[in-house]
Amino acid sequence: MANTPIDTRGTWNTKLGFILAAAGSAVGLGNIWGFPTQVADNGGAAFILIYLLCCVAIGFPVMIAELTIGRKTKKNPVGAFKALSNGNSFVPLIGYWGVLCGVMILSFYLVISGWTLGYVFEELFHYFGYSSIASIMGDLENGPKNTVFTLIFMVMTVAIITGGVSKGIERATKMLMPVLIAILLILIGYVFTLDGAMEGFWVYVYPDFSTISGSLILSAMGQAFFSLSLGMGALITYGSYLNRKQNLVESAGYVTLFDIGIAVIAGLLVIPAMYVAQAGGIEIFNPETQKLYSSTTLVFDVLPEMFHNVGAFLGLFLGVTFFVLLGLAALTSSISLLEVPVSYVIDEHGIERKKAAMLVGGLVSILAIIISFNLSLIDIFVFIFNEIGLPLGGLMLCLFLGYFWKSENAVIEIESGYPGFGTSVTSTLWVLFIKYVCPLLIGIVFVTTFMTVAQSLMEMFGF
Ligand code: TRP
Repeated sequence: MANTPIDTRGTWNTKLGFILAAAGSAVGLGNIWGFPTQVADNGGAAFILIYLLCCVAIGFPVMIAELTIGRKTKKNPVGAFKALSNGNSFVPLIGYWGVLCGVMILSFYLVISGWTLGYVFEELFHYFGYSSIASIMGDLENGPKNTVFTLIFMVMTVAIITGGVSKGIERATKMLMPVLIAILLILIGYVFTLDGAMEGFWVYVYPDFSTISGSLILSAMGQAFFSLSLGMGALITYGSYLNRKQNLVESAGYVTLFDIGIAVIAGLLVIPAMYVAQAGGIEIFNPETQKLYSSTTLVFDVLPEMFHNVGAFLGLFLGVTFFVLLGLAALTSSISLLEVPVSYVIDEHGIERKKAAMLVGGLVSILAIIISFNLSLIDIFVFIFNEIGLPLGGLMLCLFLGYFWKSENAVIEIESGYPGFGTSVTSTLWVLFIKYVCPLLIGIVFVTTFMTVAQSLMEMFGF
C-alpha cells in the first residue's frame, strides 16, 4: 500500500480560503431547501430554537473534533483512524463507514442538484414559450432527463476536485460563496415587496412550542449534522489540509455561525415566498394532513409557479437566479462529499488525484443513474445514511476521541494554533461535551427513534 507522503498533500492557501471552503461545504441544499421546510412543518421558530441548540451543543464540538483528528493525522478518514488506532482493527471502521456514507449521500445529492439545473432550463423554456420542453425540464420523475443533469453536475464536481485543494476547492468556493450570498439577499429584497410575504414572515418567527416532540428533535439533530457536513469525515479531510497555525476552535465557530446564518436567511426567503405563492392561489398545504407539501414538491413545484405568476421577465429573472443559487450551493457541497472518498483512494491506494477523482466519480455516477430512475431510493438513502448514518458517525467519533485516543491528546493538538487552550474554560467545556453531553444526547435520540421505528414495524405487521 503506497501512502502518499505528508508533504505532497495539498494545503489551504489562506485562513479565509479554508473557512470559505468549509462553509461552502456546509451551505447547500440542506440550508436552502431542507431547513426552511422543516421549520414551516415543525412549528416555526420552535424548530429553529431546537436546531440552534443541536448546532451549538452537538455540531460545534463535533466539528472541532473532526478538524482536530484531520489536522493531527493529515489523512483521509480511514487513514486518520488507522493512524490513531494502535493496531485496533475496529477503529478504522469508523472511517470506512464515513467513506461509505459519503458515496451514498453524494449519489442522491447529485440527482437533487441536477433538478436545480433542470429548473434553470425550465424557466428559460417557459419564458420563450416552449411549454412542452419546459415541462420535461421540470419533470422530476423523468429518468433520462435526470440522468443527463445529474451527470453534468458530476462532471463539474469532478473537474473542481481534480484541480486539487487550493487551486480547485479553495478557488471555486472563494468565488462562489459571495455570489451566493448576494443572490440570496437580492431575492429576499424582492420577495418582501410581494403580497403574502409578511404572513410568511410571521409564521417563520412565531414559535409554536406545542409542536416540540421526540421526532422533531430527531429531525433537528439530523438536520444539524447534515447541514454542518458532520459525521462522515468531510471535515477530517478538510482539516487534514490545515496547517498547525490555524485556530481550530475559532475556525469551527465561524463555519458553524456562517452555516446557521445562511439557513436562517434562506428561511427568510423560502417561507415568505411560499406564502406569496399561496396568496397567488397556489396550494402549499396538503388539504388532508394540513401539513406543508414535502420539501421536494415545495421548492421544485410551488416556487416555480410563483415565479411564473409574478410576470414574464421578472419571473424569469427570479426563477433563474433562484435555481442558479441553489445549484451553486449544491456544487460547493458536493465537492466536499466527493473529496472524502477521493482522498481515501489517493492516500490509501496511492492513486493519483485525477485518476482517483474519475474513478470514484464513475462509481458514484452509476449509483446516481440508478437513483435518477428510482426516486423512492432517495428516502431510503436519506434515512440510512443521513438520519442514522451521520449521527452514528458522530457518536462513534466522540467515543473514540474521548475514551480511546483520549481527549488530552486532542487538546494538545488544538493547542497549536490556539496557545492557552489547554487551561481555558473552553477546553474543559469541550471535553465535557465530547465525552458526555454529545454521546448522551445522540444516544437518547437514537433510542427514541429505534422505539418509534420498532413500533411502526409492529403496527405494520399487525401486533
Ligand atoms: N452540508 C451540505 C448541505 O447542507 C451537505 C453536505 C456536504 C454534507 N458535505 C457533507 C452532509 C458531508 C454530510 C456530510 O446541503
